[in-house]
Amino acid sequence: MKTLQLFAENKSDIAKSCQLILADEVVAIPTETVYGLGANALSSTAISKIFQAKGRPQDNPLIVHISNINMLNQLVLDVSDDAKRVIDAFWPGAITIIFKKSNIVPDEISRGLDTIAIRFPNHKTACEIIEQSGVPIAAPSANLSGRPSTTTAQHVLEDLDGKISAVVFDKPCKVGLESTVLDLTRQKPVILRPGSVTKEQIEAVLGEIDVDLSVKESIDNSAKVSSPGMKYRHYAPKAKVTVLCGNSYDTANYIRQNAGKSCGILCFDEYADLLSSPFTQTFGAKDNIDAQAHNLFDKLRLFDEMPVTEIFTQCPNDDGLGLAVANRLKKSSGFNVICIKNRKIIGLTGASGSGKSTVSDIFSELSAKVISADDIYHNLLENSSEMKVEISKNFAIDCDKIDRKKLGEIVFADKSKLKILNSITHKYITKAFEKELFSTIDSNVIVLDIPLLFEANYQRYCDKVVGVIANNDEKISRLCVRDGISEEYAKIRLKNQKSNEFFKENCDIIIDNAGDLNELYKKCENIYNEIGE
Ligand code: TXA
Ligand code: MG
Repeated sequence: MKTLQLFAENKSDIAKSCQLILADEVVAIPTETVYGLGANALSSTAISKIFQAKGRPQDNPLIVHISNINMLNQLVLDVSDDAKRVIDAFWPGAITIIFKKSNIVPDEISRGLDTIAIRFPNHKTACEIIEQSGVPIAAPSANLSGRPSTTTAQHVLEDLDGKISAVVFDKPCKVGLESTVLDLTRQKPVILRPGSVTKEQIEAVLGEIDVDLSVKESIDNSAKVSSPGMKYRHYAPKAKVTVLCGNSYDTANYIRQNAGKSCGILCFDEYADLLSSPFTQTFGAKDNIDAQAHNLFDKLRLFDEMPVTEIFTQCPNDDGLGLAVANRLKKSSGFNVICIKNRKIIGLTGASGSGKSTVSDIFSELSAKVISADDIYHNLLENSSEMKVEISKNFAIDCDKIDRKKLGEIVFADKSKLKILNSITHKYITKAFEKELFSTIDSNVIVLDIPLLFEANYQRYCDKVVGVIANNDEKISRLCVRDGISEEYAKIRLKNQKSNEFFKENCDIIIDNAGDLNELYKKCENIYNEIGE
């Protein structure tokens, strides 16, 4: 069969796709979640063609898509109050609701169940096609069974060219993951499949709901499951996938230590340089779950074009949309998941004289492991001959024993020289620092005490960044006492550093150090307890 390529912006192509649907053919249509393999939901012949094209297991029921509430009323026995609330809040949108089905629903849709899954998509093209055909459209995701779902017409052709009558080209699907499936036919509402309408959002409308066990864990294939689709390995690239859960720095480090040369790596944007290999792909910043959802299937598909034998991937935690992304990743691996012990990493930064070192000592007393960039730097100045040679060449000072005071005078008087020194030391410090971080395995809370935390982009390792600030006169007088320097020199040093405003803007938590040690201790203790939990 030749698969026609139709285009959403052409009215005549939309009309053509409706004609095909009404002639019991299968047409791949875009929705806001993923592409769907659409056919007339009221025709047994049409539905059987979907199963054939996709190679879908016979016991896996289909979602029916509607474009108005009249269609819903024909397909279900009853719309409960809960269902009305969910519909008001989220339709049209990326949530599929399970209802008791009416008797016009062919058995081929529900596959032996007395229920039906229905969704009103929030997508112009999808709704036009349903509305103009005048029939509800059954549409599973438009991929071969077991493969990652498709988010572009091109993906659809990769899987189904020659197997379906047409595909409608449109913009890539916005969400990138399939809809949330919510069962409202039981005592308590339950999410059978997480999607972009999150558990938290649904709970704001319905109160507490459950999440089916199969969302987070592997379930026995023969077991009777609530949603038949959840028992199959899904979304899977050809290579074996291993999912790493835990703090993103720890998972990145695990991957770095364990991924061989022919391994594919899927990581958060922040780790692209740390994990660079010929087969590294990023799928969004660690806190940008929308981007991760949008990119996930595309990236999983791309691995199939690479000569990789194994894939390691980082994974977001289960909050909000993270639950859906983590679910797809885990399913793509057949639940081959490694959970790295969740250490908390606190970044600690602040200008000289702010009291950052005192805060660092307090954290250490509270039994955090403190890794200090200054300590590492001083150690390297003594022991790293490579770094010493580079410094002495650039600043014309004696290489055997670097005179720190002299070096300080040179760089603090001239910003461009400070920049050169930082660019030399940065690479040595990073290496030593990562080694130390990785070998610290027995502490639950690690504090990274780093004056140039933001400049060196170390916030990517941290769960939270704490900034210590103090009034400028305080900072100057502390610096004079601590380092035995003149007020003028202290002012010059501070001028080269970030302001209180900068830290307030960029840190997650601010400690304003007014000089009272008891108060400072209490603040640190609260932060430590909160983060360490
Ligand atoms: O976003 C989506 O939902 C996409 C687009 C095309 O709308 N569709 C989609 O369909 O993901 P599909 O067939 O790939 O996934 C439907 C899921 C399956 O896990 C299936 O088992 C479940 O919904 N399902 C369908 N009818 C059900 C029912 N009556 N009871 C429980 N689960 C059902
Ligand atoms: Mg699917």
